[in-house]
Amino acid sequence: MYKIAVIGGDGIGNEVMDSCEYLLDKIDLEFSFEYGIAGFECFNNTGTTLPEETINIANKSDAVLFGASTSTPGQPSPIINLRKALNVYANIRPIKSYKGVNCIRDDIDFVIVRENTEGLYSQVEYGDCEKMIAERHITKKASERISKAAFNLCIKRGQNKVTCVHKSNVLKKTDGIFKESFYKVAKQYPQITAEDYYVDATAMYLLTQPQNFNVIVSSNLFGDILSDESAGLVGGLGLAPSGNIGDHNGLFEPVHGSAPDIAGKNIANPCSMILSASMMLDYLGEWELSNDIKKAVEKVIADCKIRTPDLGGNACTMDVTKAIVKELI
Ligand code: NAI
Ligand code: MG
Repeated sequence: MYKIAVIGGDGIGNEVMDSCEYLLDKIDLEFSFEYGIAGFECFNNTGTTLPEETINIANKSDAVLFGASTSTPGQPSPIINLRKALNVYANIRPIKSYKGVNCIRDDIDFVIVRENTEGLYSQVEYGDCEKMIAERHITKKASERISKAAFNLCIKRGQNKVTCVHKSNVLKKTDGIFKESFYKVAKQYPQITAEDYYVDATAMYLLTQPQNFNVIVSSNLFGDILSDESAGLVGGLGLAPSGNIGDHNGLFEPVHGSAPDIAGKNIANPCSMILSASMMLDYLGEWELSNDIKKAVEKVIADCKIRTPDLGGNACTMDVTKAIVKELI
C-alpha cells in the first residue's frame, strides 16, 4: 500500500486530479490518499497558499501528486515552496511525439531536467518604485547535483547526449559556475557526449532540430520556459507531464498551470496529469503499471476518437479519462 499525498490546488488542477484519482482507483494497486490544500482558494480560506499541514502530509507520503494552482497576488508560489520544502531538486519533463497528434516532427524524444531549488526562483525581490532587484542564486552544489541527475537519467533512458543550457556569455558568474559544474560532472560519464548551448540558440534549435536533443539540463527559469516551448512542439500542455525528484521524495504534476480560461468547463485534457501519475509509479518501482498507463494514453490519443478540444476534439475530461481506463482494464 502506497501513501500518496494528493494536492489538487485550484482551477483545472482539481479537475485533472479527479481524473487521475479515478484512474488510480481502477488499477490493481492499493493506495491510501491523504489530502492537502494549497493555492489561491486555500489562501482565501486560510491566509496562506501552502499550510504547514500540507507540507507535513507531503513529507510523510511515499509520493505526492499536485494538480495546479492560480498565482495569488503578493503571495509566494505554493508549488515552488513545496518543491523546496521536499527538496525535490530535479524537475524531469519528458517531451515526446505522439501518434495522431499534430507534432512538428514524429521523432521527438527528449527530456528537460530543470534545477528546482534556486536560480531566479529564489523569490527574493526588493527595491523601491524606481528600481527592483531579483536575486539569482546559483551554487556549485546544486549545479553539480542537477548535472548528475541529468547524466543518470540519460543512462536510464538509454540515450547518449546531455546538453547544458545557459547564458554564460552574459550571466558570466552565475551561469559560469553552472556550466563549469556541468563539465566537471561530465568527466564521470565519459560514455555520454556532453555539450552546451546558450538558451536563446536552444530556443531556436528546439524548433529547427528537436530530434537532436536527448537530455537538456538547465537552471530553474530557463528550464521552465523551454519546457512550455517544448510542450508546444508535441501537442501542447495537455500532454506534458513532470516529476520532481529528490533523494527522499517525489512530487508529480502536469507542466501546465490552473488554466483559468477553461476552468470549470470540464474540458481540460487529463493526459498530462495521468502521465505524471505514470511517472510516479515508475518512481515507486511499479514499472509495469507505469508503462501500461503510458501505453493506454498513447492508444487513446492515437485513436483520434475521444479527445479534448485542445487536441481538436469535443470530448470532456471524464470521457478521455474513462477511455484511458477502458484500455487499461
Ligand atoms: P496555463 O498552463 O494554466 O495555461 C496556458 C494555456 O494552456 C491556456 O490556454 C490553457 O487553457 C492551456 N492548457 C493548460 N493546461 C491544459 C490542459 N490540461 N488541457 C487543455 N488546455 C490546457 O498557464 P497560464 O495561463 O499562463 O497560467 C494560469 C495560472 O496558472 C496562473 O495563475 C499561473 O501563475 C498558474 N500556473 C501554475 C502552475 C502550477 O501550479 N504548477 C504552473 C504554471 C502556471
Ligand atoms: Mg511553467
